[in-house]
Amino acid sequence: MPWYERPLLTVVRREYAAAMRFAEDDASAVMPAPPAAPCQLYVHVPFCEVLCPFCSFHRVRFNPAKTQRYFDALRREIALYHDAGFRFCDVYVGGGTPTVDADQLIETLACVRARSPVRSISVETNPNHLQPELMHRLRDAGVTRLSVGVQSFDDGLLAGMDRLEKYGNAEQIRQRLAAAQGIFATLNVDMIFNLPGQTLAMLEHDLDVVLSLGVDQVSFYPLMTAPSARHAMQKTMGLADTRLRHPMYERILDRMLPTYRAASAWCFSRNEGMFDEYIIEQDDYVGVGSGAFSYVGGAMTSTTFSLQHYCRRVEGGHNGITQRRMLSIRERMRYDFLVRLFGGALTQAQVERRWGRGFALRMAPELLAMRLLGATRHDADAIRLTRRGMYCWMLMMAEFFNAVNDVRERMREHVRQELETWNEDARVPTSAIGRVRATGPAT
Ligand SMILES: C[S@@+](CC[C@H](N)C(=O)[O-])C[C@H]1O[C@@H](n2cnc3c(N)ncnc32)[C@H](O)[C@@H]1O
Ligand code: SF4
Repeated sequence: MPWYERPLLTVVRREYAAAMRFAEDDASAVMPAPPAAPCQLYVHVPFCEVLCPFCSFHRVRFNPAKTQRYFDALRREIALYHDAGFRFCDVYVGGGTPTVDADQLIETLACVRARSPVRSISVETNPNHLQPELMHRLRDAGVTRLSVGVQSFDDGLLAGMDRLEKYGNAEQIRQRLAAAQGIFATLNVDMIFNLPGQTLAMLEHDLDVVLSLGVDQVSFYPLMTAPSARHAMQKTMGLADTRLRHPMYERILDRMLPTYRAASAWCFSRNEGMFDEYIIEQDDYVGVGSGAFSYVGGAMTSTTFSLQHYCRRVEGGHNGITQRRMLSIRERMRYDFLVRLFGGALTQAQVERRWGRGFALRMAPELLAMRLLGATRHDADAIRLTRRGMYCWMLMMAEFFNAVNDVRERMREHVRQELETWNEDARVPTSAIGRVRATGPAT
């Protein structure tokens, strides 16, 4: 493990746990003011056919009889934002598995496109949904990027992740991906490295397969585990050897960079201009659906994690937001520093446009520390990541998502009974709906 890894993680862990602390328990009926320009829309579809043990996203087991009401609420919520003056240019549909109900998904995409000047639509899916007819329907519905969760091309690891049976074995996945190429402007493959039991040789094999397929884009995520979910995951999958994280990441860069461009510290694209879900050009984004985060006008919000409560709220004419926190200027600067450099560079023009001279003053400790560490290079027009910086930013972003995942896990704990049964009759104490208490240290 590089000498700087532990101190860096200690610092950012504290910072992100504090940053993800929501202050208000119920931001009922709060509709943020729309930004001047069209922004990004995130649509959350929480249904999955099989629940993977490593995943801390907001997901429930797919129940075909019960999805209609949720999708109706999604479309209603999108219309509410539109009526409030929001317009959306880039749409990202994530989950869960958004393609579990293709008809509902396509109707929802049509609902957004009818109201907004949409230029790109990205949709997440699983390998068992790579069926030619479905893919062509999605393309005709405006989908420009399909992101397929593969995780690994090792059958043993797929079995350990509980994905082999439902989503297919490595060879089946490889063949389906080969057939899917060329349908969408961007075909992305999601991989995970540093999984429990994964060796460097297994990763090398994953890289061989990914490179031989030559897909448009590959995302290599480090295994991210919310502190609250670590124990459960350990029981089913075992422990990851974190000492392998750095050599594995170096190997990924060695193999990917000759033919791919780093669109972010963990996403590699063949061509310029391909969309990486974690790089958001617009400052603001709106999340709709249950368990979706938004960042609008410097405020971070979350919708309720109870699917029932979400549907009831939207049916009553409100958006799903139940948690809100206004970020301080310094927190917003830090977030910008994290997200922009994760994409490779923070340009002078971006700093001028958003923050002016105050940025260099307020962010002096971070700017100096990362420069001394050799993680950033200060050019005349931009601050850029070095190769060491790519590793640092990959670690920091993973810690950021660990903090987000921790919030998700704790929010989900309050509605566990409902989520496990996805049962309309399950009793959800109103005092617990969407309520979260951060356990991390305040700074
Ligand atoms: C949330 S899933 C949604 C799409 C689809 N259901 C799937 O499984 O791919 C999107 C991606 O997130 C990544 N992911 C989920 N849990 C993760 C974790 N604990 N650590 C790293 N990546 C994770 C996986 O690569 C997954 O493909
Ligand atoms: S990784 Fe994908 S399929 Fe697995 S539980 Fe998470 S969202 Fe569902």
